[in-house]
Amino acid sequence: MDGKNREGSAASMKNSKREDLLASLERAQDEHGYLTREHLVEISRTLDIPLSDVFGVASFYSFLSTKPRGRNIIRICKSVPCHLKNAQTVIESVAAELGIGPDEITEDARFSLEQVGCIGACDMAPAMLINNDFYANLTPSKIARILGSYE
Ligand code: FES
Repeated sequence: MDGKNREGSAASMKNSKREDLLASLERAQDEHGYLTREHLVEISRTLDIPLSDVFGVASFYSFLSTKPRGRNIIRICKSVPCHLKNAQTVIESVAAELGIGPDEITEDARFSLEQVGCIGACDMAPAMLINNDFYANLTPSKIARILGSYE
């Protein structure tokens, strides 16, 4: 095997391990709501990947969390197009309705609020996701009704 083939094998092994790692992290989060240090240590041991790499991946992707989250995860876009269309008033309306700020969770664990980058609906700004439900052209007056539809 020449140097190029060895590099190719190493790269595909890396990709395979990365896929296994993401799948394991998603599975653990689906089962427990978020990723604890114990989950990361166990995944590191099982997949034989350094804990620092596991933690790096877990903290890189916004769909993964190492902190507790609510049953319903609100993600409001904070990118420039949404910001220019008054996303801040939507964020403030959600915060006032729930009594929490960004990166916080309601006392009853019903909701958590996150500010995220573009969610792909810039032409319908401002936009947000609640779990996998998409809302666009938001105004503060729509927020209470939307939040009220989640248990
Ligand atoms: S900038 Fe907000 S959805 Fe794209």
